[in-house]
Amino acid sequence: MTKQFAVIGNPIEQSRSPELHHAFAAKTGVDLNYKKILAPLDGFETTTKTFFSQGGIGMNVTVPFKEQAFTLCDQLTERAKIAKAVNTLWMQDGTLYGDNTDGQGLVAAIQALGWNLENSRILILGAGGATRGVIYPLVQAGAKKIVIANRTLARAEQLVNDLKDAVVQAELSAIGLEQLSGEFDLAINATSASLTGDALQLPENLIFHHAYEMAYGKPSSFLDQAQARQVPSTDGFGMLVGQAIEAFYIWNAVKPELKDFL
Ligand code: ATR
Repeated sequence: MTKQFAVIGNPIEQSRSPELHHAFAAKTGVDLNYKKILAPLDGFETTTKTFFSQGGIGMNVTVPFKEQAFTLCDQLTERAKIAKAVNTLWMQDGTLYGDNTDGQGLVAAIQALGWNLENSRILILGAGGATRGVIYPLVQAGAKKIVIANRTLARAEQLVNDLKDAVVQAELSAIGLEQLSGEFDLAINATSASLTGDALQLPENLIFHHAYEMAYGKPSSFLDQAQARQVPSTDGFGMLVGQAIEAFYIWNAVKPELKDFL
């Protein structure tokens, strides 16, 4: 029987998840149908419950419902608890499970590029939900020092406070964007600046050897500056594919190879 999946969000038209999951299915021989669901802003819970009551197997969750999905679940993975956001749902024996595969998607994308994370020093720009979701997987992958730089310093400090007990293997710290300096193996742009078209100004005395922009398909001043410095850099398409692969693996117990879909 064809297994039913969906991605839920508002807006949802832009989502590339259906094409990715259908491509994974074609490659691995899984029989599935994966559709987009536009939920009303006040209708996430009802829409989700209807999907699962009609036999849906799994659902991805995107903006703006990841925090609501987190509160709706009966059971959460460790990384979803730390992220306080859920992008992958599934129902088993009447229990709604939630995971967050965004961070592992980023880690897999970075590793597929051959960039080393073991003992790495990482700078993350931004302190919103996107940053929260990736810190624990980055530390699990070997990051030793993570500096979170945010326009609003207090928000970065709050994030460090919230996460420091969960990632004791790494040194976490918070700075304001105007304090940017030092040397990092990797800089990650997790701000929404590229989505809104705003420029981020990186100072000359900030040194980084690789640059990862989480957004994709948008002009990015962060990537422009990385390219001007001739630093290896990429947009976030690999992370998108990576998080989809992790969700596919949870639901179907077979893992497509990231490099086949980049
Ligand atoms: P997300 O869930 O995508 O992380 P978010 O929670 O709204 O979205 O967070 C957006 C992040 O981008 C924040 O860190 C925000 O900085 P503030 O906390 O100071 O608001 C950052 N951001 C957005 N626009 C920015 C800009 N033009 N310059 C610098 N940082 C920006």
